[in-house]
Amino acid sequence: MEYKIALIPGDGIGPEIVAEARKVLDKVCEKYSHKFSYTEVLLGGASIDAHGVPLTEEAIAQAKASDAVLMGSIGGDAKTSPWYKLEPSRRPEAGLLAIRKALNLFANLRPAYLYNELRDACPLRDEIIGDGFDMIIVRELTGGLYFGARKTTEENGVRTAVDTLSYNENEIRRIAIKAFEIARKRRNKVTSVDKANVLDSSRLWRSVVEDVAKDYPDVTLEHMLVDNCAMQLVRDPKQFDVILTENMFGDILSDEASMVTGSIGMLSSASLNETKLGLYEPSHGSAPDIAGQNKANPIATILSAAMMLRYSLDLDKEADAVEVAVQKVLTDGFRTGDIMSDGCKLVGTKEMGDLIADAIA
Ligand code: NAD
Ligand code: IPM
Ligand code: MN
Repeated sequence: MEYKIALIPGDGIGPEIVAEARKVLDKVCEKYSHKFSYTEVLLGGASIDAHGVPLTEEAIAQAKASDAVLMGSIGGDAKTSPWYKLEPSRRPEAGLLAIRKALNLFANLRPAYLYNELRDACPLRDEIIGDGFDMIIVRELTGGLYFGARKTTEENGVRTAVDTLSYNENEIRRIAIKAFEIARKRRNKVTSVDKANVLDSSRLWRSVVEDVAKDYPDVTLEHMLVDNCAMQLVRDPKQFDVILTENMFGDILSDEASMVTGSIGMLSSASLNETKLGLYEPSHGSAPDIAGQNKANPIATILSAAMMLRYSLDLDKEADAVEVAVQKVLTDGFRTGDIMSDGCKLVGTKEMGDLIADAIA
């Protein structure tokens, strides 16, 4: 079959890790006789440099005309990059939020899984990790603080900044349904994370989630306050199966969960709407501190490409093949710097991509 993929290299390490994911996809094509036709799409800093804005109408149209979008990461160093001299609505991150909104990508799935081979890269003690760690964060992605009205004003020499956190019940219901559906295919447990002891939006969240839970009597629902959740993730991460949460809490908790898997360089993600068209990107950023040095771990992006094969293209066995290839390379002892431990073989971004691609063939 032939598939159209919009490829967004992005900024910083983005182009490096996307190149490796593409290498792996090319091997998938070869082995399973598919054809992927790629359209390169500019987003973030790369789009600012070319067009003066972080996202163009053309880029949105290119994404919409594709079967799936595969992205690296966007953004730069806020201290040194000229992009951060622009007003906030014209900075790289605004482009990412705008494409999420334009494609209505309300469901952000971030699976956090600790490979046995990476046990030493996880900073938690053996008795905490036991025989493994396997959970998924289901993060609402098109509402909350990220999309509420914001402004900064000044009166009598005093500046005031306002951000608005708002959710309506339809937005909460559709992401809750996603979480319960996913839990059914896993270990049947949803932990809904909120701040219902303070926020109205969280109290509404809790009540809607409880309502949705009535349709899933086979799934256990638990509520947890976000501050406690941050603590529980390192105290006893194995208690979690599916974490369901709003946009900003999910952003923060997913970076935290990534360390239980060994590194942020391992955390893949899929951003989905009600159609087949999804956007797949690692959960990490553009890592300006290591950009251009062949140091970035491409595995989060490669695993995101596997999610793309599975969710947008319905290519399950091809997705399995990518995941098996990643597993094999880790079993063979190859590591990028972020997941390196004693006795393993240190490789760069390109070498890791080559090894995974070769493991597919
Ligand atoms: P970051 O995730 O880019 O980096 C945090 C730390 O993790 C850095 O030390 C970095 O070197 C390391 N790291 C990240 N990915 C890695 C990988 N694949 N392999 C090895 N090490 C890796 O977060 P940050 O420094 O806070 O943000 C940098 C820029 O990225 C900012 O402009 C931010 O807005 C942007 N950002 C973009 C996305 C995205 O595109 N989805 C996500 C997060 C941050
Ligand atoms: C992520 C990133 C983005 C977010 C930023 C770059 C806007 O941190 O995808 O996790 O906060 O959603
Ligand atoms: Mn983030």
